[in-house]
Amino acid sequence: MEQISEQLCRYKGYTFATGWATPEYLDSLHSFQIRDSDIFLVTYPKSGTIWTQQILISICELAGGLNEYPNNLEQMPWLEYTEGRPDYALRPSPRLFATHLPPALMPAGLKDKRAKIVYVMRNPKDNIVSYYHFSKVITFLEKPNSFEDFLENYLSGNVGGSSWFDHIRAWHSVCDQYNILYLTYEDMILDLRGAVVKICGFLGKNLSDADIDKVVEKSTFGTMKKDSKANYKFLPEEKLIGDFMRKGRIGDWKKTFTVAQSERVDQILEEKLGDMNLQFIWE
Ligand code: PPS
Repeated sequence: MEQISEQLCRYKGYTFATGWATPEYLDSLHSFQIRDSDIFLVTYPKSGTIWTQQILISICELAGGLNEYPNNLEQMPWLEYTEGRPDYALRPSPRLFATHLPPALMPAGLKDKRAKIVYVMRNPKDNIVSYYHFSKVITFLEKPNSFEDFLENYLSGNVGGSSWFDHIRAWHSVCDQYNILYLTYEDMILDLRGAVVKICGFLGKNLSDADIDKVVEKSTFGTMKKDSKANYKFLPEEKLIGDFMRKGRIGDWKKTFTVAQSERVDQILEEKLGDMNLQFIWE
């Protein structure tokens, strides 16, 4: 592990929160045995992870057969951060995992395309603003001096999760190699029910219309904010001194970005991902 700041270290080109994962453990993930029933949620940080986590868990709960855990973090833990949990290899099926890892660090067994991956992308400007606010309330990340400073670090990939641009490119370049469903945060905002139906189809979970309505209701911003299993208020104060559930909107970036900053992101987006024909909803 290369230490790049007090809070961040880098391994195989990817940044992690200091002290949370060892090279040995990360290397062991290559041969982590995948089961057909495994479901992985992959995101760049602040792209709608805990939201999609709630949707996936609610769908699986209603479909039946899910094991009991005290909250969504324990039900769908981070693949890269075990935080002292019992061995993931011994966890009963069905196993659900969340991860911010790039494809290169994922278990090789996922390439047999039997286990499922849901990938969620968020427009980078809202992603940056969300990440900026999160950095101020999560204790293990560096506190940004200003939005300008945070933006510089983000654009150069010096934040937990490395470069958003690299993450998007890497995960969209492996669509043939995995059994993967691509979603966007914005599409989920604009049509949550449509997203739930799409996810059910991908997972092969045949829920009734009434159960789909229940998943939608459990996954709205308002419901999740009050749901102690889903809102991450269960994290101790040494880790979190604010809210995961901040605003949950598209276009909040406009209140923070200057015109020049916005144009700079547009330009870098075009340079780095312009060839990929990705569509973004900005407001
Ligand atoms: S993390 O730390 O990577 O797990 O964070 P992540 O969960 O990916 O992103 C947090 C942002 O997702 C928003 N969120 C939601 N938006 C809409 N609807 C629902 N139900 C919902 N749940 C979480 C959360 O508010 C963060 O976005 P911002 O813009 O900061 O509000």
